[in-house]
Amino acid sequence: PPLYIITPTYRRPEQIAELTRLAQTLMHVQNVHWLVIEDAKEKTPHVTELLSRTGISFEHLLAPMPESYKLRKGSKPRGVSNRNRGLEWLRENATSGVFYFADDDNTYDIKIFEEMRSTEKVSMWPVGLCTKTGLSTPILKNGSFSGFFDGWIAGRKFPVDMAGFAVSVKFLLERPRAAMPYKPGFEEDGFLKSLAPFEPKQIEFKAQNCTKILVWHTQTRKNEPALAIDTAKYGNTNLIMLRQ
Ligand code: UGA
Ligand code: MN
Repeated sequence: PPLYIITPTYRRPEQIAELTRLAQTLMHVQNVHWLVIEDAKEKTPHVTELLSRTGISFEHLLAPMPESYKLRKGSKPRGVSNRNRGLEWLRENATSGVFYFADDDNTYDIKIFEEMRSTEKVSMWPVGLCTKTGLSTPILKNGSFSGFFDGWIAGRKFPVDMAGFAVSVKFLLERPRAAMPYKPGFEEDGFLKSLAPFEPKQIEFKAQNCTKILVWHTQTRKNEPALAIDTAKYGNTNLIMLRQ
């Protein structure tokens, strides 16, 4: 059964760079179906083109963030409409396998995909470079669950990062109402709680009992893009198209 990778993405100058890196990681993974879901009203042509030439089996879907959240001041529920669209796709099309929410900007060791493949319910592992503590991970004592280490616990039942868990498709299908809330900071916790009945003691630990870091919450620095490119001078309209 396949590994479903749900990747939220949105138009910005870094988009193709991020997706190129992730695509070329996934090109090393067997039996994967990549759900690339854009927070946009129309598919970005360069994304479609990139996906087609990777040879990876994929879906290119759209799930714009609802206007009410987009217009909000302060933090926004980034990638939530996209991930919920991914869950909807799984409910309509998948019967078995495992799914994982892989943001477009993180760094993935290909070993993590083999680790998560055997997930029976919900599996977890450490995420590096996450929050001010530099690490987010379940804590194990004598091989069993004893808590969570994360720089921002905030009363969450599951204080984990999006990149730190995978879920079995069957487990999801048995929970028809499971979804991700539009609640900045509480997306992971809200989603994992929506998988009830499910308790932390049932977590399957991967990456050698959470002793290895195989995924990092990297973030790409924004660079102020040049305001204008003189097309006449360079005569290369492809360059203009690449600037989103
Ligand atoms: C952290 C978490 O790891 C995310 O999973 C979580 O959604 C996010 O915080 C949040 O709570 O806002 P962070 O690196 O801060 O991630 O967020 P981004 O990487 O900027 O966004 C997460 C994902 O959503 C990315 O794949 C990004 O491409 C996508 N996104 C972001 C959109 O689809 N639309 C947006 O407007 C912004
Ligand atoms: Mn990110």
